[in-house]
Amino acid sequence: MILLERPRRLRSSEKIRDFVKETHLNIKDFVLPLFIKEGKNIELPIKSMLGHSQISVDMLDKYLAEIAELGISNIILFGVPGRKDSCGDVSLASDGVVQEAIRYIKKYLPNSMVIADVCLCEYTDHGHCGILHGHEVDNDKTIVQLAKQAVSYAAAGADIVAPSGMMDGMVASIRMGLDNAGYNNILIMSYAVKYASSMYGPFREAAEGAPKFGDRKTYQMDFANGAEAVKEARLDIAQGADILMVKPAHTYLDVIQRIKNEFPGYPLAAYHTSGEFAMIKTAAEKGYLDENKAVIEIHTAIKRAGADIIISYYTREIAKLLKG
Ligand code: PBG
Ligand code: ZN
Repeated sequence: MILLERPRRLRSSEKIRDFVKETHLNIKDFVLPLFIKEGKNIELPIKSMLGHSQISVDMLDKYLAEIAELGISNIILFGVPGRKDSCGDVSLASDGVVQEAIRYIKKYLPNSMVIADVCLCEYTDHGHCGILHGHEVDNDKTIVQLAKQAVSYAAAGADIVAPSGMMDGMVASIRMGLDNAGYNNILIMSYAVKYASSMYGPFREAAEGAPKFGDRKTYQMDFANGAEAVKEARLDIAQGADILMVKPAHTYLDVIQRIKNEFPGYPLAAYHTSGEFAMIKTAAEKGYLDENKAVIEIHTAIKRAGADIIISYYTREIAKLLKG
């Protein structure tokens, strides 16, 4: 008699399926992005990101109470300043919008993990992620500015700084800046592998940081490249990155897996971006797919591929779904 293998035995009931499940989502792995708008009494819904708003610091209470209630402990902050300039100097002020938000959140939720995105695009009047020389980004001037910004966020109380501009040497410059200022315990979560992607559209409305001319292809990676991701991650590790990131997530599962396999000792984050959020949201609104099921499936796939940490606009919904 031929022995019939019966893999279906492991799928025969919910109880058994749960018992043998390989990948579990845990709310502690998730990071919720918040957009902090300079000013007072502001709670401005972001049209392309249903359920998300630009919020001024004085309006954060309600959000933080909900976050705590849901068991969300990790937040990443993006600033939307009232004024912009050519070099993003406004991001260095100790009373800048992100600095104020960090202080406020740390007071309200002392146990939270506050991550500050470090980049210039939200603060420059041209919308590029660096300081310009003509129409080109001046890499080496930019990384000096990024170090100042990171030190300013650390001084305000950020636990982690997350440089997202894909400038060469940004991690080294920030690490040196932090160490020199006495912040050698502040972590760097580097957007080590960030692609020039069409998935950032809604974010650019949310953060008001779209480039006024050209695109980001001279600094963000070509989505056709996989091996190059390994190089980028290796360089950031050598410069002192504590946590690596791949962005976007859903269509880059191969890259997530590759980076995890190459550098198993490094915590890996994946960013489920605004465009990926919008794709699920709009399909769900049309009734073409079940939003909750799609959200759990996609985020489980990102974790299965090798992400330890997931930055997601669905963090609140996932918290609710995991609570059952
Ligand atoms: C800016 C930044 C972007 C995102 C995070 N930081 C946009 C960009 O690079 O244009 C994208 C986030 C998202 O789409 O959710 N450096
Ligand atoms: Zn940027």
